[in-house]
Amino acid sequence: MGDTLNVAVLVGSLRRGSFSRKVAHAAIALASNSLSMEIVEIVDIGDLPFYNEDLEDASEKPSSWLTFRDRIRRVDGVLFVTPEYNRSVPGALKNALDVGSRPRVESIWSGKPCAVISVSLGALGAFGANHHLRQSFVFLDMPAMQQPEAYIGNAPSLFDGHGALTNEKTREFIQKIVTAFEQ
Ligand code: FNR
Repeated sequence: MGDTLNVAVLVGSLRRGSFSRKVAHAAIALASNSLSMEIVEIVDIGDLPFYNEDLEDASEKPSSWLTFRDRIRRVDGVLFVTPEYNRSVPGALKNALDVGSRPRVESIWSGKPCAVISVSLGALGAFGANHHLRQSFVFLDMPAMQQPEAYIGNAPSLFDGHGALTNEKTREFIQKIVTAFEQ
């Protein structure tokens, strides 16, 4: 047995009752013992002031930026679970990427392996958000898992009223994603 791999799970929705968050919890529950997955709380992302280079001066730097950067720096990989907003990445998640990416020589993302699960209410599975995220990974130098791709559509039909995943095929699919990412 190798060492435990620590994975930060970043959820692109700040909404209570978010389906993306439910998918994230399902992924965490399906992880093997050698994978330690933890949601970097969405409120942390929500509390990150918009990235502004002027604030990089030590006297002005928001403490939440430092906390966030420290947290991601310590993990071995990142799993993004996100909805799509207007065919792209929700602003809160994009801002988290921006905050983590600077100062450029200290980017927390560089070389960090990642994977994306995108989630939608309708059938399309938030393809646009998934692929806009992937565009950022190129510049951020994050090796991203290519296959299997994970687009989860029709999210409301997959969970019961308590947020538990009830769709067996989706459970098997998420299991496959998590196992592939671990490998
Ligand atoms: C959406 N939604 C949405 N859905 C989609 O499939 N493609 C899209 O482009 C958009 N655009 C969009 C913009 C904005 C501003 C909002 C608030 C919503 C619907 C979205 O998928 C839905 O609200 C999900 O429930 C959001 O994910 P969570 O919060 O359930 O994880």
